[in-house]
Amino acid sequence: MDGNGRWAQRQGKPRSHGHQAGSDALKRTVESVMSHGIGHLTVYAFSSENWSRPNIEVKQLLDLFMRALNREVRELNEHGVCIRFIGDRSAFSRPLRDGMKRAENRTRDNRKLILNVAVNYGGRADIVQATRQLAQAVERGEISPEDIEESMVARNLSLHDGPPPDLLIRTGGEKRLSNFLLWQLAYTELHFSDVLWPDFDGEHVEIALHDFASRERRFGGLSKVQSA
Ligand code: IPE
Ligand code: MG
Repeated sequence: MDGNGRWAQRQGKPRSHGHQAGSDALKRTVESVMSHGIGHLTVYAFSSENWSRPNIEVKQLLDLFMRALNREVRELNEHGVCIRFIGDRSAFSRPLRDGMKRAENRTRDNRKLILNVAVNYGGRADIVQATRQLAQAVERGEISPEDIEESMVARNLSLHDGPPPDLLIRTGGEKRLSNFLLWQLAYTELHFSDVLWPDFDGEHVEIALHDFASRERRFGGLSKVQSA
């Protein structure tokens, strides 16, 4: 969800105004993906690198996050959305961590949409924590290093209990992953949009889905024509 700050600055408004508008765009996007029957959505709300922004912006983002938690969870729950957070939450304040836990507990049995919100998330850190868990299993004598397979690494990563993402959408014009879900995106189709995140809506979701539908996914194999 990139482009909030530029969106606000273009209107001569503070960056926080863009983040506020960005939270409305997220709401629209959740509604839109649900209307298409999509069952899993993961959004990058706050990266482990976002702490390097000015303190005031970090505080505004976390305040917005807290307000959104208080305001939106009931409605999301009524619509069958299961909310989960991925990333290292130990850096957040107690009230924020409690709010996240409450939202997860309240929505845990919902299955219409699994909404994963990445907060203080970094793809490399995700792989490091999976590595640490496997090393601990070796230390306990449960597995030996030769036993370690891709599936075991995957089981210890975020999103391990869901499918790998089919489609990644990055808004805001940059064409990079910025440390998002590095392992999980190995065979994901990438869609880059110049639209700034606060302008993103159902129409842009459809553009991205059309783009996705036009791709031939070979997963390293051959195309249907090649293998005929
Ligand atoms: C993305 O918008 C929102 C978050 C990182 C939370 P930016 O704040 O990165 O907006 P730009 O890229 O400066 O326009
Ligand atoms: Mg940005």
